[in-house]
Amino acid sequence: MKRLPIFIALIALSLADDINPRKFPKTFKLGVANAAPQIEGGWNEDGKGETIWDRFAHKHPEKIADRSTPDVACDSYHKYKEDIALIKAMGLDHYRLSIAWSRVLPTGYTDKVNKAGVEYYKNVFKELKENDIKPMVTLYHWDLPQPLQDQMNGWLNESIVDVFGDYAKFAFETFGDDVDWWITVNEPKQVCQSGYGTGGYAPGVVGSGVTDYSCARNILLAHARAWHIYNELYRSKNKGKVAIVVDASWSEPGSDSDADRAAAERATQFEVGLYANPVFNGDWPEVVKRRVAERSKMEGYEESRLPAFSEREIAYLKGTSDYLALNTYSTMMVSAAGEAPLTASFEHDKNVRYWAEPDWPKDGPWWFYDLPWGLRKFLNWLKRTYNNPEIVVTENGYVTGDDTLEDDKRIHYFRGYLSACLDAIYKDNVNLTAYTAWSIMDDWEWTGGYTSFLGLYKVNFTDPERPRIKRKSADFFAGVAKNRCLLDPSECID
Ligand code: BGC
Repeated sequence: MKRLPIFIALIALSLADDINPRKFPKTFKLGVANAAPQIEGGWNEDGKGETIWDRFAHKHPEKIADRSTPDVACDSYHKYKEDIALIKAMGLDHYRLSIAWSRVLPTGYTDKVNKAGVEYYKNVFKELKENDIKPMVTLYHWDLPQPLQDQMNGWLNESIVDVFGDYAKFAFETFGDDVDWWITVNEPKQVCQSGYGTGGYAPGVVGSGVTDYSCARNILLAHARAWHIYNELYRSKNKGKVAIVVDASWSEPGSDSDADRAAAERATQFEVGLYANPVFNGDWPEVVKRRVAERSKMEGYEESRLPAFSEREIAYLKGTSDYLALNTYSTMMVSAAGEAPLTASFEHDKNVRYWAEPDWPKDGPWWFYDLPWGLRKFLNWLKRTYNNPEIVVTENGYVTGDDTLEDDKRIHYFRGYLSACLDAIYKDNVNLTAYTAWSIMDDWEWTGGYTSFLGLYKVNFTDPERPRIKRKSADFFAGVAKNRCLLDPSECID
């Protein structure tokens, strides 16, 4: 009996041992995120135009896990003050949100401005300012105005570079005084590989290995257009920063063999480098160019399926990132795979095999594991590969099918991942300046509908009032913001 307290003390010690006791640097920012199409609702209210996700959910309920729509979601269109009050109560520095393109420009073009939409975001920014919370604003979180898909095939048409540039200019001009952190596009990989490749996401275009690369090219040039507009017209006045978000799980080599190491590196170059290399260095990563050219030839194509950038475009793209924005949730083991059948496909071009160690902690979807060491390795890879850029974690969070309020597993995840951030900052000298948890509350999780939970707050989606209900992890996160440390304040080190 007497041994029990000693045993508990030992467990506490070993837990604490794994957690970095340092305090976050004074300038380090902690915040939470979400995005317009996942929380706002008001899908056709006050002049908002239809988006490709509105159309996708309405026309293809069979593609959404619970056949739901984002029509009302968390009703943040009406409840934003309540959301901001929650962020204030947690003592956080920033709120990452997105502007719904079709709420301010219903057709996608600047010829028709929706005043009510502009007013809405002005009010949101005003409320944030009054509460001393900095907005981090995404221009495109997957919600393309439907007319742009209908009229020009969305991201597959190069004209979208100008159209997106006009939208970005409109947003910088209209909201620039309120925003320091801009994000042009959230996770272009998901937009292109799922929206215009496998067709699993809106707008459902199928053409993996061909159309996804055209999408990537246009989205990168559109990002660069927005960056240049900001750089030339707004930077000196507004002094903000502009970046594009890249996303991936960390790819850990399945063994020490050269083949597995190369496979893991190739995976990260296809997932991250495809979007990060152009904005940091001007062009696609070498391994991606080589693989797609080789495969295209074997398949009988005259030219590589990966459309090349011209010298002018390379110069235009290079250096269009003021910081590196990273969304990441998990880690996978990656091994070399035999050459896949000769059909065009992004996955065949990448050519790796993903797997998970049987003893990894498992609680969510097939790709999701609570492995904080993956984040630390990922941050170090980005530091090495892109010449030590400023890095901001723009999304990281715990996903599960269980909506319990006693979410100790989510707390375990956040503590571990935040500790990995501290390790990266203090032990590895990674220039990591902010961490953003996904999500402030449960939301409409795209094809997962309302069946996948990531919120610090639970939302009751069957109640018309959409009440926000605090989870244990919200208190944990508030404690981190208050003490700026992951342990009991008495154990924290400056
Ligand atoms: C996206 C979010 C999404 C989150 C969790 C990210 O891929 O940016 O919109 O909700 O992952 O699934």
